[in-house]
Amino acid sequence: MIGTEVESRRRRRIVVAGMAIAAVAILASSLASSRSVAAGPEEMPSPHTTEYVPSISDLMIATIQPRHEWLWRAEQNGNWEFAAYELGNLRGAFRRLGQAHPTEHDTSFPDMIASVTEQPFNELDSAIQAKDTAAYAKAYADLTDACNSCHQALNHGVVEIRVPNRPSASDLNTNRASRN
Ligand code: HEC
Repeated sequence: MIGTEVESRRRRRIVVAGMAIAAVAILASSLASSRSVAAGPEEMPSPHTTEYVPSISDLMIATIQPRHEWLWRAEQNGNWEFAAYELGNLRGAFRRLGQAHPTEHDTSFPDMIASVTEQPFNELDSAIQAKDTAAYAKAYADLTDACNSCHQALNHGVVEIRVPNRPSASDLNTNRASRN
């Protein structure tokens, strides 16, 4: 008698536990569906909680400076294909920089960027097409002057960019010949 009562009580507990699990599952799925309905068009997380807009200096170090260096190294190694690739990437990086920071010192940042970089970019482009080392050296120096003219104009003259003068150790192989 006692045995069966214990047994039936255990069963009841299992049933209750089962119902509780089912209830939680229903609640969870209805929450999930109501959330996906509520999320609607803005499935992206709220910009106020998660969005990080990298500063101009963050972008300079992350997206501009390395490409400026690699452009130089590509030409040093006679890798015109890689120079063309990096030139495209550097242009894109400046474009995104201007989109992320539309105004600086009350002036349009994209306009500022274009005013100093457009000419050297076009010169670099032509030099790469022509595989013209001398023209490339001049255009690269002009681009480097463009970096510094903006830094000076925006009171960041302390950031002085130069034409690199020796190949440095790097994990990026821009020298096709060294692979053979
Ligand atoms: C149109 C303006 C502009 C141009 C062009 C420009 N920069 Fe800058 N750069 C800035 C500004 C503004 C800062 C300083 C940002 C700050 O500290 O808030 C900066 C800072 C830097 C820094 C220092 C970042 C740090 O955190 O230490 C580096 C490195 C740099 N630039 C590299 C370059 C290179 C390389 C080029 C050219 C290929 C270039 N910049 C072209 C505006 C420019």
